[in-house]
Amino acid sequence: MSYRDALNIHELQAMAKRRLPNGVYGFVAGGVEDDHSLRNNRNVFERIRFRPRSPVDVSKRSQEVEIFGRKFACPFGVAPMGIAGMFQFDADLQLARAAARMQVPFTLSNMSTIPMETVAQSGGHARWLQAYMANNREQGAKFSQRASAAGYELLMITTDVPVQGNRENNFRNGFTLPLEIGPRLIFEGITHPRWSTTVFARTLMKYGVPRLENTDRADRPTILKQQEKDVRGRRDSVDWEFIRFMRDQWKKPLLVKGILHPADAELAVRYGLDGVIVSNHGGRQLDGSVSPIEVLPEIRAAVGKKLKLVMDSGIRRGTDIIKALALGADFILCGRAAMFGVAVGGADGAAHALQLLKAEVDRDLAQLGCPSIAELNLDFLDTRDLFYGHTWATESQAAKPLKAVV
Ligand SMILES: Cc1cc2nc3c(=O)[nH]c(=O)nc-3n(C[C@H](O)[C@H](O)[C@H](O)COP(=O)(O)O)c2cc1C
Repeated sequence: MSYRDALNIHELQAMAKRRLPNGVYGFVAGGVEDDHSLRNNRNVFERIRFRPRSPVDVSKRSQEVEIFGRKFACPFGVAPMGIAGMFQFDADLQLARAAARMQVPFTLSNMSTIPMETVAQSGGHARWLQAYMANNREQGAKFSQRASAAGYELLMITTDVPVQGNRENNFRNGFTLPLEIGPRLIFEGITHPRWSTTVFARTLMKYGVPRLENTDRADRPTILKQQEKDVRGRRDSVDWEFIRFMRDQWKKPLLVKGILHPADAELAVRYGLDGVIVSNHGGRQLDGSVSPIEVLPEIRAAVGKKLKLVMDSGIRRGTDIIKALALGADFILCGRAAMFGVAVGGADGAAHALQLLKAEVDRDLAQLGCPSIAELNLDFLDTRDLFYGHTWATESQAAKPLKAVV
C-alpha cells in the first residue's frame, strides 16, 4: 500500500512502523517510563464531545489564520523534531517543503543535522526555529544573531527538557544519543534494507557522519558515538532570567515551549514573550504530566488575550485540532503526525499527512455548524467528563448567534 492510500494519520503510523527499524520507530513513536502522558494525550480527546449546531449556513468555510504576522492556510503547523534525518533522507528539508506547499509553518529544531541557513533558503512559507539552550549568555547571543541573519522570524525556546526524559524503550532498543553502531543496529539495518539504503547510507554518503549543525555549542557534535560527550550539553540551569536575556537579544516573536501551568503562562506575559507552547512534549518528558488539553482553559483564563497560546501533544485528527482551538488555543503544532508522513513518503508523504488533517478540519467544521475557526469556543464542546462538570462556557457565548463568514 502506498502512503497515498492512507486514509488517516493512524494508517501512516502503521506504515512508518513497518518501514523503520524498531529502535528508530520507537524513538519517534514512544514516550517515557509507563507512557501515562503519551496515552493520556490521546485519551483526553475521547473524553471531550461535540455539541454541533444546526441548521447553520456553513457553505463558506474558512480555516485560515493570521498569527505572528503571517497568514496560514490552516490553523496548524509542524512541531520541531530533532534528528529528523534518522527517519527520512534530508527530512528537515522535506518537511519544510511540505509545509510550504500547504502554506503552514515548519519549525526547525536546533537538534537537526542540516544547517539552519540551508533550511531557511529552501523557500519555506514561514521560518520558525526552536532551540534548546544552556544558561550561557554568550552562546545565547551568538545563536540569536545567527538565527536572525539566516532569516528566522520566530524563535521558541524549549524549557521542559532540563534533563533528558527516561526513554526506556530507546535503551531497550539500543537507540541512544550519540548513536552507537553495534550488533543490534546492524541487524536492524539488514532487516530494514529500504531504510538502510535510502535513508542511512544515502545520508552517510552525502554528509559523512551527521553532525548537530545548529546547537548553541561551537563543537557541532556528531550523532554517532565517537567521543564520550553529551551531545546535548547541559541545560538544567535555564531560568526566567535567562529568558529575559534572550528577550533582549531576539527582537522578533519569542515563545517558550513546554508550559503546562497557568502561573508560568502569566510569567511569560510578565517577561514580555509573545506566546507559549502549551505542551507536554508529546508525552516524552515527565511521565504523568497533565495533557495540554486539560489545562488550556485555565491558562487562557489566566492570560486572557495577552499571550498567543500554541498547543501540541497528541494531535492525530482534525477533530483534535478543533477541540484544542475551542478550548482556547490560537494555533496547533503536530509532531509525529507529520513525521510519520515524511518517513513513508518524503515531502509528498508529509504533505499528504497535513492534507489529511486539513480535509478533516474542513469537514468537521461543517458538521459542527461552525463556518470559521475564529468562531470556535467552549460552547461547541461537552467537557463534563474532562473537567468534572466545569465547562467554562459563559451564557453570552452560548447565546451568540452563529454567522457564516463571507
Ligand atoms: C522524534 C521527535 C523529536 C522531537 N524533538 C524535539 C526537539 O528537538 N525540540 C522540541 O522542542 N521538541 C521536540 N519534540 C517534541 C515535539 O516538538 C512536540 O512537542 C511533540 O511531538 C508533540 O506531540 P505529538 O508528536 O503527539 O504531536 C520531538 C518529538 C518527536 C516525536
